[in-house]
Parts: sequence; C-alpha cells; structure tokens
Amino acid sequence: MSRLTALVLAAGEGKRMRSGIPKVLHEIWGKTMVQYILDALKDITDEKPVVVVGHKAEMVKERLGQQVVYAYQQRQLGTAHAVKCAREHLSRTDGYVIILAGDIPLITADTLRQMAGECMDNGYSAVVLTAEIDDPGGYGRIVRDDDGQLREIIEDKDADQRQKAIKEINSGIYCFNIRDLLDGLDKISSNNVQGEYYLTDIIKILREKGLKVKAYKTGDATEIMGVNDRVQLARAAEVLRERIMVGLMLQGVTIIDPCNTYIDSTVAIGRDTIVYPGNTIQGQTTIGQGCIIYPNSRIADSHIGNNVKIQASVILESKVEDDTTVGPFAYLRPNSRIGQGVRIGDFVEVKNSSIGNGSKVSHLSYIGDAEIGSGVNVGCGVVVVNYDGKAKHKTTVRDKAFIGCNVNLIAPVEIKEGAYIAAGSTITHDVPEYSLAIARSRQSIKPEWVKKKMKNK
Ligand code: UD1
Ligand code: CA
Repeated sequence: MSRLTALVLAAGEGKRMRSGIPKVLHEIWGKTMVQYILDALKDITDEKPVVVVGHKAEMVKERLGQQVVYAYQQRQLGTAHAVKCAREHLSRTDGYVIILAGDIPLITADTLRQMAGECMDNGYSAVVLTAEIDDPGGYGRIVRDDDGQLREIIEDKDADQRQKAIKEINSGIYCFNIRDLLDGLDKISSNNVQGEYYLTDIIKILREKGLKVKAYKTGDATEIMGVNDRVQLARAAEVLRERIMVGLMLQGVTIIDPCNTYIDSTVAIGRDTIVYPGNTIQGQTTIGQGCIIYPNSRIADSHIGNNVKIQASVILESKVEDDTTVGPFAYLRPNSRIGQGVRIGDFVEVKNSSIGNGSKVSHLSYIGDAEIGSGVNVGCGVVVVNYDGKAKHKTTVRDKAFIGCNVNLIAPVEIKEGAYIAAGSTITHDVPEYSLAIARSRQSIKPEWVKKKMKNK
C-alpha cells in the first residue's frame, strides 16, 4: 500500500471573521475548526499532517502543538504557493497527499477516505472533491469535457458568464500523487485576475501531461461548507451540534430537546442519562450512567459519577461522585470534590473543597478551602470564613460532625470527629471530638420592656 499524508492550508488571516485570532482557531463546541479536520484525518493518514501556517503562526502552533508538523508561508501568495512552502515535508514521502483548507470543519473521515481511496486505488494523479450547489458564487467551477471528464478548474473571479453558470464547485479538498503534484507545481503562474498562484491550475497542467485526473462528486454539500465569517461559523455549529446530539442519543443518552441542548464534542456521557433542555456541558467533562441533568445547568471540565442528579447549577473543574444530588442553584467552583451520596442543596457555593460521602450541605452555605469529612451535616446558612483580608486559610471538619444553622467557621480551624456546633456560633478555636461548642451570647429576656417603652412616649 502507498503511504498517505495530509497537508492543511492554514496560513490565511480570514479577514471576514473580523477577529484577533486566526480563523482556523475559532472554536465550535469545544474544538477549534482545524482540530475537527485533524481528527477526521487521524485514522486515515500514515503520518502526522503538515500544517502550513503564516498569519499569527505562533498562535496556531501553540494551540496545535506536537500533533502535526509545520511549514511556514511568510506571504500568502496563493494556494499553490502554500503547497510549495511544504515541499520539503512532502518530498520525504513517496505516496499520496490529501490537501485541504483549515476552515471546513464539517468534512467527515468517511468522505476523505473515499476520495483518497478513489485516487490511490485507481492510479489518479489528482482527485478533486466537488459538489453541486445552487449558489456557486465565489467558488472555483468544475469544467468538464463533452464526455464528462474533468478538464480544469476556473476560479470565480476568472470565470466568464458561461463558466459562472456551472453549479459544480471545487471544495478545495484534493488527493494528489505527491510526485506528480510536485512536478506540476512549478509550472503554475500567477497570471490571473488575483495575481495569485492557484493550486487549482494544477488540474489542467496534469491533464496536459497525459496524467489521469478526476472530479469526485459528493452527494452531501454541507460537508464541504467553508467558514469565512461568523454567520457561516454559526451555521457550521448548527450542523455539528446535530451530529453531537445524534451521536450521544445513539449511544444511549436521552436528550429531551436536542435543539436546545449544548454539548461540546469533547464531552462523554454514559447510558441512560437524561439531559433536559437548556444545559451547556463543556470541555473535558464526563458524565456517568443513569444521571438526570435537569434544565439549565452549566457543567465544564468536570467529572460526574453515576446516578447523579443535577438541577440548575454551575459546576466548574470539579468532581461529583455517584448518587449525589446538586442544586437547584448550587455553584461548584474549581477543584471541588463532592463524594458519594452527598446532598448539595440550593444556594450553596463550594470552592476548592472536598466533601465526604453521605454529607449534607442543604441550604444557603459557603464552603471555601475546606475539607469536610463524611456523614457531616452542615446546617442552613453556614459560612466558612476562609479569608482574613490578606490570606486564605483552611478549615477541616471531621467525620460525623454536626454544624448548626448560621454558624461561622473562622479559618484556620478544625472541628474534630463527631463534634456539635450550636446554631449561630462563631467558631474561632478547634473543637475537640464529640464535644459541643457554643459560641454566642446567652439570650436574656427583659419582661414588659416594650410596654414600658410605649408608656414613656
Ligand atoms: C479556494 C479554491 C477554490 C475553491 C475554494 C473552496 C484556489 C485558487 N481556489 O478558493 O477553487 O472553490 O477554495 O473553499 O485554490 N491559504 C494559504 N496560503 C495562501 C492562500 C490561501 O494558506 O497563500 C489557505 C487559506 O488560509 C485557506 C485556504 O488556503 O484556508 C483557501 O484559501 P482561500 O484564499 O480562502 O481560497 P478560496 O478563494 O476560498
Ligand atoms: Ca475560502
């Protein structure tokens, strides 16, 4: 078998995005556009793809890292020139190359595999992926001979009236025999309306050499849709969202209203979990089996166990173990670890804290920089006072402790195993095991005080 590699053109700025970041780094559902393409290529090519960078090259390199190798195009003189900039990398491989732009995130591995297979199995020098679309304006047009064979590609700006009427367009996705490609590249001139070196000119050049070229038409034109501005970005996101939803549903996740659920492509969800509308689930999040995610939560970069119930809450960079319930209106901030069978109730904020198995923080509490053991009851309105105005301090609550309502725990402080804290206490010193701490002034009664006050008026 011949070897197959890939070349991704990503040197352009993408002016129409009107953005400070290069076009190919714009994200859709947790992944950059170019990453969708790299993921589609992953199981098809034999080598690391080559990415041609230019505009804001450092940003692109930093984001993509070591998964690809880079070629550099200093000035964007056209798509053929971009390919030339990668000549050194390409000439190392004797085989075939898929060339495509970095701004077509909808392309699938299946389509790429079929196109490359067509080229490699039948000894073509070039196969161009094409599609028929109603509004071909802006695209290169596929010009065929009378017998239907691919003759050449004419760019929109260079096309005459008759050519402009052609509805079959160049997707900008190709497979080439590398040797034939490199031989032909030098013959491409910039003698056209845009004064650019067009990669598309190679088709005519190869044909005139007597080499075999082919236009491979795909039935699904949405796959080749390019993203040039934010309107197209939203359209591509819509298609990808649908794919993500279908993927999850076929894996056994119930999604009540797929049109109103927003889940990144990077998220994994187990079987029999139910996701209600209005949820945004992002980044490196995993959710186990049998969970219920009620409406209107945001969960990002978090790990949720099995049989967890979450209602209208925000969970960031945290872990929630099996059989726990969260919310409504809870806020789990980064580095929180919530154990099994825990109850985190309404208006509870947890930050950089762990809460042990079976503990309850049911209402109106702030837990920050704390380690709470298992079987602990944290009453309504408990506040961990972790900040003294200069530094944050740690609070420890050992297993089976009982913290009464409206208690302040002034850190650093430790509540030992099984200790009780009376409601309304402000705790500034450690509390020994199985003892009761009361830290509030005693109630006094002044009989008839109100009546006396009224008489004096
Ligand atoms: C190109 C094709 C056109 C096709 C269309 C499909 C050519 C001449 N035309 O046109 O037939 O219908 O794609 O979307 O190839 N790039 C570089 N360096 C350059 C120029 C471009 O890296 O010097 C990159 C861009 O970043 C972009 C891709 O190549 O990702 C395509 O370039 P662009 O200028 O957008 O080509 P189109 O005019 O869209
Ligand atoms: Ca383009």
